Amino acid sequence: MTSKRRPLLAGNWKMNGTRASLDQIKAIGDGVKTSLSEKLDVLLCPPVSLLYVATALCDDSPLAIGAQDCHQKASGAHTGDISAEMIADCFGTHVIVGHSERRRDHDESDDLIRAKAEAAYAADLIAVICIGETEAERKAGETLEVLKRQLGASVPENATAKSTVIAYEPVWAIGTGLTPTLADVAEAHDFIRSTLAERFGEEAKGIRLLYGGSANPGNARVLIAVDNVDGLLVGGASLKAADFLAMYGAYGELLA
Ligand code: PGA
Repeated sequence: MTSKRRPLLAGNWKMNGTRASLDQIKAIGDGVKTSLSEKLDVLLCPPVSLLYVATALCDDSPLAIGAQDCHQKASGAHTGDISAEMIADCFGTHVIVGHSERRRDHDESDDLIRAKAEAAYAADLIAVICIGETEAERKAGETLEVLKRQLGASVPENATAKSTVIAYEPVWAIGTGLTPTLADVAEAHDFIRSTLAERFGEEAKGIRLLYGGSANPGNARVLIAVDNVDGLLVGGASLKAADFLAMYGAYGELLA
């Protein structure tokens, strides 16, 4: 973590949550109304069915609300899809693109993900672009090569520090309780930073890099202290307000 970059703690609810979960969103929104929020951004991405209600519930909170995916076009005949404009219309401010579950379940390619990020920019949303290696790729020693390829093809040419967040999520660590060693996290994040610097120069210094994959209240403190880890993208541990707020609290010490 470098003090120049404002950390971002982000939660991704995936396909979880009904109206009965709105009390958790409200509790998170209320829980981040502390002075710590002057020093870090907090984002929650519930399923799109809860998006509009969530933004209304949290309109007096520093908690930002975002979505988990968007279509690459602004509107049109694309049954079942949601555009970045629609997310912005619900007062969402961020959208995750290229999550490994989208890449896997919907065969999303790097080119498509780049187009989705461009759609996000066009709607003034911040794109949280996910990259990460599979277990087989890590075992084959291909991790950095995969990250380089995904960064090169999924991140748009006009990406800026303001419009773009990169989430490094090793696929094998997502939802498994497994995490890379801190040295492996540091290696990946340093590599991502330098790869972005080759392409974007000085601008790359401001792009926030999140770690994601089995981050939880127990390991948050050590993960957020790793160099070039500017925040976390949290799945399972963001579903319960108490857990997510404990991770928010972990920043208290780091940013004191
Ligand atoms: P997890 O998911 O925290 O449940 O491992 C992270 C993610 O997929 O963003």
